[in-house]
Amino acid sequence: MPSKKTVLVTRRLTPSVEARLARDYDARLNPADEIYAPDKLAAAAQGADALLVAATDNVGPAVIAKLPDSVRAIATFSVGYNHIDIEGCKKRGICVTYTPDVLTDATADLTMLLILGAARRAGEGERMVRNGEWAGWAPTQLLGTHVTGKTLGILGMGRIGRAVADRARGFAMRIHYSNRKRLPADQEKGAVFHADPEAMLKQADILSINCPATPETTRFLDARRIGLMKDGAIVVNSARGAVVDDHALIAALRAGKLASAGLDVFDREPDLEPAYRGLANTFLLPHLGSATIETRDGMGNKCVDNLDAFFAGRTPPDRLV
Ligand code: DGY
Repeated sequence: MPSKKTVLVTRRLTPSVEARLARDYDARLNPADEIYAPDKLAAAAQGADALLVAATDNVGPAVIAKLPDSVRAIATFSVGYNHIDIEGCKKRGICVTYTPDVLTDATADLTMLLILGAARRAGEGERMVRNGEWAGWAPTQLLGTHVTGKTLGILGMGRIGRAVADRARGFAMRIHYSNRKRLPADQEKGAVFHADPEAMLKQADILSINCPATPETTRFLDARRIGLMKDGAIVVNSARGAVVDDHALIAALRAGKLASAGLDVFDREPDLEPAYRGLANTFLLPHLGSATIETRDGMGNKCVDNLDAFFAGRTPPDRLV
């Protein structure tokens, strides 16, 4: 029997995924779930054949440069991979895999929660009830924005953006989108394509950010572009905090230019810009997009499927490089 491959698993995963890892690998688990500092990550990888990391790990150029030669594969427990130096991995011949598809529905569901929560002032209402401040029903209490029939602008029409569009159609919303490429008609399903994302911003009553963080999208939503949006529009982000200029968004929420924002992701999580917490018109969640048991099991199993394929000499199904 060949000896088991050693996998450094940087975060605590669901019980069934950890059981599978412990059965099939020499798995270095992290029951305390403490995040490895970048220098500790490279040190902990000594003797490992593979890493199973998450979006909370910094696997940037400094870490990749220090990884021992034994590490031949990195499976990330995420669909986003902006935390990994992909070019560095390519140069070192390290295979990188990710977890597309399995988190599409959960993240799209969560995006609808952000849209509804921000539009219908759910955070304010919940706090009012919880804090014993609710004096009873009133005709003008916590009036929000009607969602049905409104125009939803989707920035990034990949798997998740398209799943958000499918859900929003159930609310009779008109879909406009901007994407690097126009979608084929069977995926577009009548949505209006804007090659210029700024043209889409002008149309949107609600903007949903569903694109990855790349050099092109970083700080996309800045003060100038918010200025192009309709007065009283709503912004939701379930993708990456880096796509938004926090100071510009906060200023627009304070000034009433934007009615509200629903945010599940932040730059430098969990140290979000403190002003967000003080604003009544923000609906804030702690990066819960893929947080269902089914999805997290699916993500973990995808990581292990990819590692199994790699060590069996097959091409991993979700190989990035
Ligand atoms: C992802 O998969 O990229 C999500 O943000 C969770 O990490």
